[in-house]
Amino acid sequence: MSTYQIGVIVGSLRRDSFNQKLATAIVKLAPAEFSFNQIQIRDLPLYNQDDDENQAASVIRMKTEISKADGLLFVTPEYNRSIPGVLKNALDHGSRPHDQNVWTGKPAGILGVSIGSAGTSMAQQHLRNVLSFLDVAVLRQPEAYIQHRDGLFAEDGTIGERSRPFMQNWMDHYVAWVKQNSSCSDEHF
Ligand code: FNR
Repeated sequence: MSTYQIGVIVGSLRRDSFNQKLATAIVKLAPAEFSFNQIQIRDLPLYNQDDDENQAASVIRMKTEISKADGLLFVTPEYNRSIPGVLKNALDHGSRPHDQNVWTGKPAGILGVSIGSAGTSMAQQHLRNVLSFLDVAVLRQPEAYIQHRDGLFAEDGTIGERSRPFMQNWMDHYVAWVKQNSSCSDEHF
């Protein structure tokens, strides 16, 4: 069966992260031809341009996983009206050395859940700004700004019943966007 391999990047390192839960739950709404692999960013060193010619093993591992992905899914909280530093750190690592930006051309979607009513909208706008510069093709609509409330997740960790139609609609658009913009070559299938 044809498979689109999606790299998932979560912007929270918190043990009980709502965004981690969302990342785990949302992929269950995707069709079977999509597979998802979380790309870890917690073990990356702080970006330092001095290391561009001698990148750490964790950086090379992350960049390799991004290179292999047919699409990307960012699921991030909002920190102080922007994206968390750990996510920006990963974006910077993947963009360097200057001529080796691994993000370029990848189709991507952005999701985020916060406890605030604006539901990560500011963080998502900031992330769109960075990803635009990095030449990532980000799904424009629908947007998904999610506030954490009881019932967002069901007991078994899936998306709760009330939120499911909204999230399914988002996933259906994301799947179409990746298919339209992925550089999956014929030999891939
Ligand atoms: C937050 N939080 C937050 N929420 C929000 O809606 N807008 C914001 O600007 C911020 N800023 C912010 C800064 C910092 C440093 C922290 C730790 C938290 C609250 C945030 O939504 C909440 O902690 C979420 O639970 C974080 O997501 P995870 O870790 O549950 O995925």
